[in-house]
This record gives sequence, C-alpha cells and structure tokens, in this order.
Amino acid sequence: MDVFSFYQFDIVGHLISLIGIVVIVIACYFLFKPLNRIRDLCDVGYEEQLRLDKYGQSRRQLANEVRRRKKVGEIPPVYPNGWFVLCESDDIKDGQVRAVDALGEHFVVFRTEKGVASVLDAYCPHLGAHLGIGSRVVGDCIECPFHGWKFRGEDGQCMAIPYSAGKIPQSAKAKSWPCDELNGFILVWYHAEQEEPNWKAPLIPEIAAKKWTYGGRSEYRVNAHIQEIPENGSDIAHLDCLHGPSMLYGSDLKATLNGKRDNRIAPFLKHHWSVIWARDPEEKHVAVSKLHHEIRVFGRLSFISVEVEAKQIGPGLVYLTFTSPLFGRCILFESVTPVEPMVQRVLHRLYAPLMMKGPFGNLIVWGEAIMFERDIVIWNNKTFINKPILVSEDRAINLFRRWFQQFYSENSPLFNFQGKNEIVNW
Ligand code: FES
Ligand SMILES: [Fe+2]
Repeated sequence: MDVFSFYQFDIVGHLISLIGIVVIVIACYFLFKPLNRIRDLCDVGYEEQLRLDKYGQSRRQLANEVRRRKKVGEIPPVYPNGWFVLCESDDIKDGQVRAVDALGEHFVVFRTEKGVASVLDAYCPHLGAHLGIGSRVVGDCIECPFHGWKFRGEDGQCMAIPYSAGKIPQSAKAKSWPCDELNGFILVWYHAEQEEPNWKAPLIPEIAAKKWTYGGRSEYRVNAHIQEIPENGSDIAHLDCLHGPSMLYGSDLKATLNGKRDNRIAPFLKHHWSVIWARDPEEKHVAVSKLHHEIRVFGRLSFISVEVEAKQIGPGLVYLTFTSPLFGRCILFESVTPVEPMVQRVLHRLYAPLMMKGPFGNLIVWGEAIMFERDIVIWNNKTFINKPILVSEDRAINLFRRWFQQFYSENSPLFNFQGKNEIVNW
C-alpha cells in the first residue's frame, strides 16, 4: 500500500466513525427526549371518511362536517362539579400570565412574582378588558392593560387605581376561583352552585420529593361529552375488541380489524386485559379500575405483564399507576377539561423514576397514546345513548353512570343552555 492510499483509507475510516457517532447521538436524542404527542380535533378519527371522500376535502373540512352533523344524543349536563386542569405548571413561569377558556368560563391564570398560581375571571370588572391579553404581573397582583387597575391574585381584590385619588370601592373585585397546584398541574374548582371545594386532588409523594420527574406527555382535543371519557374505564367489554390488537397497528381501526381478521401485519403480539371497576368505599368522589394487562406472543406466552390502577378522582382527573416486575412503578396522569360542551381537552403526563425515563417512559406514553386514540376514533363519531341496552357483563357501566351523577347539581349547565344547539365551527 503506498502512502497516498494509506491516508485515503484513514480518512474514509474517520468519516465512517464520525457518521456513526452522529447517528448514535441523534438516535439517543430521540430515544431519551421525553415524547410530546399533540393531536387536534381533526387529527384522529376521520381516516375512513378521508379514504372515501370524493370531493377532495381537507382533513379539517371533513372532520368539521362530520362533527356538525353528528347526533349529540340526550346528554347529561355539560360541566360537572369538581377540580379541572387549566394548564400544566411549566406553562406559566413566575410573573407570567395565560388566558384559558374552559367550562363555559374565561379564566386568567397567572403566577405572582413569588411564584404562587392564581385564577381570576378574565374580564376586568372595571370596563371588561381581558386580563389575560396584554396584562402584566406586579408583585402579587395582575395589572389590567386598559386603565392599569391592579387585582390581587389571592382574592381578586382591586389594590390600586393609578389615576384615582379616592378610596378604592369594596366592590372593585375580580371574581377569584379556588385553585390548586400539584403534580405538575394548575387546577380550578368548578361548582355550578358556587360551593367551596369539598375534596382535594391528592399529591403524589414521589413527585413532591422529586423522586419521580416528568417523562413525557400527550395532549388531545376530543369531540365528546365529558362523561364518555371516564366511562371507558368501566366499559370492560370494549378492551379486547378495541384495545386487543397490538399497538403496532396504530390507531386506525380499519388496520386493527384487518390485523385481527387475516393476521396480516403483526399477529404475534396481542393485548389481554382483565378489569374490576368499583367505587371507593371511603371517598365517594373516587372510583378505581384495577387492570391486569398482558402482552402475549402468539396468543399464549406472556411477554410483558403490567398491573394498572386507574383511580378516577372526580369528573376530570385520573391517576394511572403502572407496576411491572420488568420496569417498576410510575404514574401517568390523565386530565379531562371541557373547553366547550362537546369538546374535551385531554392531557396525559408521565412521572417516573430516573431509570424508567427515556425509551421506557416514551414507550409507556406512546402505547397509552395509541390506545387512547383508538377510543378517540369511537368518541369523535359516536352519539350518547341515555338508556343503553346493556347485558349483564356491561353492569359496571350502569354502576359508573350512577356514581358519576354525584358531579351534577341543580344548576349544572345543559347543552342548550346558551339557546343554540349547534356546535361552533373551529
Ligand atoms: S378595563 Fe380594566 S382597568 Fe379598566
Ligand atoms: Fe378504551
């Protein structure tokens, strides 16, 4: 080998090593970066309509059309009483402000300069400016952008009117909403009778002690009544049918069905579930689904088994604790917040010990997301049946519906409370 070819060989070798390192770094970045999966109303559940469409409609046009034509059914009141997530803690830094519309209300959520989260009515009681748009935080107050009135986060009391020498009227007060911050969420208490909170969402000690930290999230908007989403936990019969086919099929139901029927793609992996749903005997606002989940190879050999405890806490929160001999314990929070009578914002947020983060954590968030998206396909297209025909194996659904009644009260708003039956276009 002459000197020239030796150097050429050396350069090629270095180049290959460099490319290898770059590929490994990129792969690690994607494997270890917490997953963040966001899907809007039109993103999930309209594959079949899209395949059949002959008019060249966009996914958004088509989804909106389906949504407008959908028969809503005889639904219960649209905003139940309880704690609801308005945003995630890391959405708002100290001194920052955010406008959030939910539960038929307009909220302004902000953090005082000392970091305390507060929730007030968004419309300024002076002349109606929006406190979430163009405003700023000063100390423990939010300052309205229109005339500079300052409202205290703690109780909404007006603390300063910059151009007035007189006494601040007692009535100069923005409505303050009970709020709480825990497990990475900022929550508001909604009650149609204006009752004060009669229960609290539990803080998870591992998160408070920073033993479990954030490991990924997903976010959805779903076209359904809020009750449909937690009802899923008591609907035992749908698990094998909808969630049985391997998650490798994704969330297109046509693909999962094909997989089941002719074993086309990945027939060797199948999910098996057994579930017990029960209301908590001590805390009446809590119900628990205990799930045993196995992934079986060729329908027999158990490949992975996971115990899942899904604690439904009030109408809008679920704490899913996963325990497996393979990867230990972690928690996935689910929150459901109605942003319109028939639109729910659903968040999932994983908290896990360090060892389980990265590829493991991402697999949990992704697997849960795929299964959840299969439910969304159903929810986005289904109607609500007030008096369903149930067989004895469906009895947990009845138990769930009776349990959920406690979150409605005399003045809980009905779907047509605004005097119109049509859903606003998005
Ligand atoms: S409208 Fe807010 S201070 Fe005037
Ligand atoms: Fe489901």
